[in-house]
Amino acid sequence: TKRKLWGGRFTGSTDPLMHEFNQSLKYDKRMYAADVKGSIAFSKALLKAGIVDEKEQKELERGLKQVELEWKDGKFVVQPDDEDIHTANERRLSEIIGKDIGGKLHTGRSRNDQVATDMRIWLMEQTTEVEGFLKDLLNVMVTRAEKEVDAILPGYTHLQRAQPVRWSHHLLSHAQAFLTDLSRLRELYPRISVLPLGSAALAGNPYSLDRELLRSELGFQSIGENSMHAVADRDFVVEWLQWASLLMVHMSRLAEDLIIYSTAEFGFVTLSDAYSTGSSIMPQKKNPDSLELLRGKSGRVFGQMAGFMMSLKGIPSTYNKDLQEDKEPLFDCVDTVSAALRIAEGVIATLNIHPEKMKAALTMDMLATDIADYLVRKGVPFRETHHISGRAVALAEKTNVQISDLSLEQYKELSEHFTEDVMQVFDFETSVEKRNAIGGPARAMIQRQVEGARKRIEGK
Ligand code: ARG
Repeated sequence: TKRKLWGGRFTGSTDPLMHEFNQSLKYDKRMYAADVKGSIAFSKALLKAGIVDEKEQKELERGLKQVELEWKDGKFVVQPDDEDIHTANERRLSEIIGKDIGGKLHTGRSRNDQVATDMRIWLMEQTTEVEGFLKDLLNVMVTRAEKEVDAILPGYTHLQRAQPVRWSHHLLSHAQAFLTDLSRLRELYPRISVLPLGSAALAGNPYSLDRELLRSELGFQSIGENSMHAVADRDFVVEWLQWASLLMVHMSRLAEDLIIYSTAEFGFVTLSDAYSTGSSIMPQKKNPDSLELLRGKSGRVFGQMAGFMMSLKGIPSTYNKDLQEDKEPLFDCVDTVSAALRIAEGVIATLNIHPEKMKAALTMDMLATDIADYLVRKGVPFRETHHISGRAVALAEKTNVQISDLSLEQYKELSEHFTEDVMQVFDFETSVEKRNAIGGPARAMIQRQVEGARKRIEGK
């Protein structure tokens, strides 16, 4: 117990299982660089406040840099009493530069404001990296959409063939969801970037530490205005987990579409070997495991979010050890999302599409709405045209032909407004091109989407 940083008031030693239960170093060591960064900045605030002199500050900085290097090189030797990354780093710092100077670092600081600061530093860096992965995925999607604008496939509602759309339009429908995820992620950043350091345990520090100096040293956008809130607040973790949950919902729906489209029954796309796996018993199999994992991991991310929300609920004010439960869900989600984005990028980049299969799946009944629209242009009210077109579909079904095989005479029997030009309706390209209002699948609108998406990716 004497060796614990907080051991002064203790006489009994920690139960070994309790030590294990309490210790977070096994997972929070990944914040070692953030912890060192925060401490170096803190040493500068201590210098300004006159707690350490210039020589001591230099020593602190030198020692901290060595600590960081030891972690980086895998040479940091964890001691049995190291509880978390903060105690481990401080213990090692004092070994390197001596207790007389090392022991001054924690003046006016608590692990409560330290850990909140570390988490935010770490998450700011990760958020920038994840933003990059999301942009990469979006760029791949947009590039494909622009290139493959000719391919037309059935669009579905209720998984029933509905109306023809461009493949590009379908792909961009998923990209649109990711574009909003990108905006949302960018909006999170300023709320992550609020500095807790200087709040100490809960009641602030009595040394007039220059928090503006800390803010600018650490690259935070703003300073936490209430020391009690600063050490209690994990909303930035919750928001990130919620952001990730919705992103993964989008990922999962994209994956599901591609899984269906890659079946032999659809055959619209083939996954590259790089993102598929085989069966240990059925030699012919090529399974879309990458997509299934993207779909499956959405449940995992949502679960971490829901779990941490439960951990937070009902905690009294300021710091309580429950808050240590923020780390594993956040780390796991950041890892999962980072991997998911890169896998999705690879899947989309290497996917093969089969436009002829897409075309073969188009059936003339998918143009029944176009028949109704045709009559609208001849002045018939839509509600009536819908009915007439429905009767054409029924007639075709009854006589076992396509609606394009019905004769002009048959059409004329259904409505006097049909003339010869009705046969021009039976063209999928025409159908898609007619839908040229903003947001439609016409070529020009695909290009508009592509250009709009590129601007949003660049944050314009
Ligand atoms: N390892 C702790 C955490 O992650 C650091 C803060 C501990 N503070 C304390 N007073 N026990 O939350």
